Amino acid sequence: MSTLLVTGGAGFIGSNFVRHALEHTGHDVVVLDKLTYAGDLASLEGVPSDRFRFVRGDIGDAGLVGALTAELDPATDAIVHFAAESHNDNSLAGPRPFVDTNILGTYTLIEAARERELRFHHISTDEVYGDLELDDPAKFTESTAYRPSSPYSSTKAASDLLVAAWVRSFGLRATISSCSNNYGPYQHVEKFIPRQITNVLGGKRPKLYGSGRNVRDWIHVDDHNSAVLAILERGRVGETYLIGANGERNNLQVVETILELLGQPRDAYDLVDDRPGHDLRYAIDASKLRTETGWAPRYTDFRDGLARTIEWYRDNEAWWGPQKAATEARYAELGR
Ligand code: NAD
Ligand code: TYD
Repeated sequence: MSTLLVTGGAGFIGSNFVRHALEHTGHDVVVLDKLTYAGDLASLEGVPSDRFRFVRGDIGDAGLVGALTAELDPATDAIVHFAAESHNDNSLAGPRPFVDTNILGTYTLIEAARERELRFHHISTDEVYGDLELDDPAKFTESTAYRPSSPYSSTKAASDLLVAAWVRSFGLRATISSCSNNYGPYQHVEKFIPRQITNVLGGKRPKLYGSGRNVRDWIHVDDHNSAVLAILERGRVGETYLIGANGERNNLQVVETILELLGQPRDAYDLVDDRPGHDLRYAIDASKLRTETGWAPRYTDFRDGLARTIEWYRDNEAWWGPQKAATEARYAELGR
């Protein structure tokens, strides 16, 4: 491959992917991103300009998407599709953008990929599988039935089904990856870990939904992105791969670790109203990815990865500071 068209490349995972791909591969990168509230060009500052181009636009704009895919060579190039509305709380407050971007936007991209016979990689989430009981011995696998809970996860599930149908009906050369919860630099302060880090850095208390016992399976964003590259290079077309790094923690444990790393008492948090429909537990079995591609995560020590992430937020208030007040004002309206 020589050029990757990366949608959503100004968001959290996409911007980390762009840096990772430019550093670890010889590909050039073109980013297509609408720069919603969640996209920020500052997340791409310093990437080498001779191998990188930024295009502002909507993945649902068929004319623009067609012009960009016309530049790609089906023999060597690929589309890597990260762009999405990505936050559950926002999807509960206003689902429409989730339908537009996650479903119709993905439809526009796969139609363009079909037309040009381009290799396509679709980024999805483990949330399409719904949730597990706390004591369920089984984790999610590629054969777990879809059972999404929220407008966010249901629109991601819908987009996965479109991609899978385009593979079967039209021979689209696509793969899908469904990853667990990511953490790391450049994550928007609306999300759990950066919200709590920046609360504590700003002298405020972390906010835990409900009882704090909900479990997420945390993975460092660089490990997600190295897995995406492994799938692009060695994955089988038509297949779905689950990405996870055995990082299960409940939210209370995560908050206690953040407080401890920042020198605060471990109980200096507030319990707030729960999220409606709040998924209890996610857990990934990534055996297929590991066996078929040889991928393994590098950030196997969650506490160390979290400490580095805290350092990044401490050093980069200029990046997150402008978003913080508006984000907290939105949460205040929700009572969370
Ligand atoms: P994000 O919200 O940080 O970034 C999304 C990016 O997409 C932003 O730059 C935004 O401007 C752009 N975008 C939104 N709508 C667009 C549109 N219509 N056209 C063009 N660009 C648009 O999201 P993220 O956390 O980086 O997630 C990226 C992908 O990874 C999503 O598909 C998400 O479902 C998936 N995912 C995320 C996680 C996680 O923990 N964050 C876990 C698994 C999967
Ligand atoms: P989030 O980062 O929104 O990711 P997702 O909903 O995709 O898992 O939330 C992660 C977990 O943290 C989830 O169980 C909800 C919880 N949460 C809180 O307890 N407090 C918060 O302030 C936020 C934003 C989330």
